[in-house]
Amino acid sequence: MTFLITAGPTREAIDPVRYISNRSSGKMGYAIAEAALDAGHDVILISGPTNLAPPRNTKFVSVSTSDEMFDAVHQHADSSDVSVLCAAVADYKPAQVSPLKIKKRAGEFWLELVPTRDILQSLGRRQNRKFLLVGFAAETDHLEANAREKLRKKNCDIIVANDARIGMESDENELLILFRDGETKRISRAPKKFLARELVKIFLKFATKKFDKKDVTITERT
Ligand code: C5P
Repeated sequence: MTFLITAGPTREAIDPVRYISNRSSGKMGYAIAEAALDAGHDVILISGPTNLAPPRNTKFVSVSTSDEMFDAVHQHADSSDVSVLCAAVADYKPAQVSPLKIKKRAGEFWLELVPTRDILQSLGRRQNRKFLLVGFAAETDHLEANAREKLRKKNCDIIVANDARIGMESDENELLILFRDGETKRISRAPKKFLARELVKIFLKFATKKFDKKDVTITERT
């Protein structure tokens, strides 16, 4: 099988030297990539800027902005059997990117932000999707309710939810996994490498449930 995995943060430019980003380390996505490779699968890893070395034997696509990640995901998604969108994509970007460094002035400074495109939702809305679609939800409150809403709104097959205060920039995480068919699973706090191996097994089991006789992954529509 081929896994497409997004990982890390995005950077949304303000001017040539400044950007908006977040504290995602990319560790969870890279660990899932390693686990899928170790289980004998092919991996396309689409990554924002991180301090991690790309695992060997992946097709590695390095991106910076949410728009670059959107394009790369849409270019490669149909080559995947399982797409796992783990990246912490910025929700907003500056309305304009200044071509020159913005000078410091006295007083307040206002930056106009516009929403980025939601990559996960754009794949979930596709009518002809033939791959399993997995999203992540990092929350600080109402974890299960927010994650369930994301599963519905973004029309994916699985949402992996975690408390951002445990998982961000950390080697450990604690997961709540919600499935399209209503099933839920919890994995208590453990190293991301262990969690990644469990997740790969879970994704494959769920993908196989949806295989038709011609070994084509099929997903039901809501
Ligand atoms: O809505 P929220 O950002 O919390 O959703 C998180 C999930 O959506 C993650 O799987 C993330 O990779 C994905 N996402 C995306 N494109 C965005 C924002 C989030 O693919 N612009």
